[in-house]
Amino acid sequence: TKPVTLSTLKKMKADKEKITCLTCYDASFTNVMNAAGVETILIGDSLGMVVQGQDSTLPVTIEDMCYHTAAVKRGNTNALIITDMPFMSYSDPKQALDNAAKLMQAGAHMVKLEGGSWLAETIQLLSQRGIPVCAHLGLTPQSVHKFGGYRVQGKGQEAADLLLADSLALVEAGADLFVYECIPTELGKALTETVPVPTIGIGAGHHTDGQVLVMHDMLGVNLGHTPKFVKNFLINGRNVTQAFEAFVQEVKDVTFPGPEHGFKS
Ligand code: KIV
Ligand code: NA
Repeated sequence: TKPVTLSTLKKMKADKEKITCLTCYDASFTNVMNAAGVETILIGDSLGMVVQGQDSTLPVTIEDMCYHTAAVKRGNTNALIITDMPFMSYSDPKQALDNAAKLMQAGAHMVKLEGGSWLAETIQLLSQRGIPVCAHLGLTPQSVHKFGGYRVQGKGQEAADLLLADSLALVEAGADLFVYECIPTELGKALTETVPVPTIGIGAGHHTDGQVLVMHDMLGVNLGHTPKFVKNFLINGRNVTQAFEAFVQEVKDVTFPGPEHGFKS
């Protein structure tokens, strides 16, 4: 199979073919995801919670992210590999460039950062140096303490307008992909229609160009609370490969996410 690249994702958006993404942290599951046809793999800093047992993503280090990225890279054949920049590894542009370089050398094809228009300068620098950037907006878990908990974001016209303006500023700066987490379904639609690059949603409704879930959540082996937007695919006697295949199928034919997984404006 041909490697999935940014050009592939851009073509999928244009063709209205849904993009699939799952988080993954090791070589073995990467191999199974490749076989199931998952186009993009995210080494999420969610590994702090689902792998390390931390109570947030804040303790995760750049070394942790490099270690897991290298493991995924060794197991990967054709998926596009995106790695999260962990908490405080991109607090200014120079620090971001140094740390993004480590992740790219470990095997990432793209890095993901959480934040709005304040990231423009950083994204511009990384982009100019040849590092593709995915911007993560909406519920950004590295800011959980500032938010006062894991809450739906972008509710109300003012918050929606801010998210649209932030997104356009980051496209201007060079962002090539967006992840939107926990926002109203209608806002997911508006953002997807407005930004010229692909959008991947988690708890952002079915209109986004793609969907992502944390692997442990969609296999029903998460530790704590299960968010409303999660669906367990390891059911009906399926094995793990079949669970990943069912996710791909349901994202492609837009049966996942259903209305029950979404949020109102
Ligand atoms: O860390 C992660 O798993 C993520 C996804 C939830 C988008 O950032
Ligand atoms: Na993350």
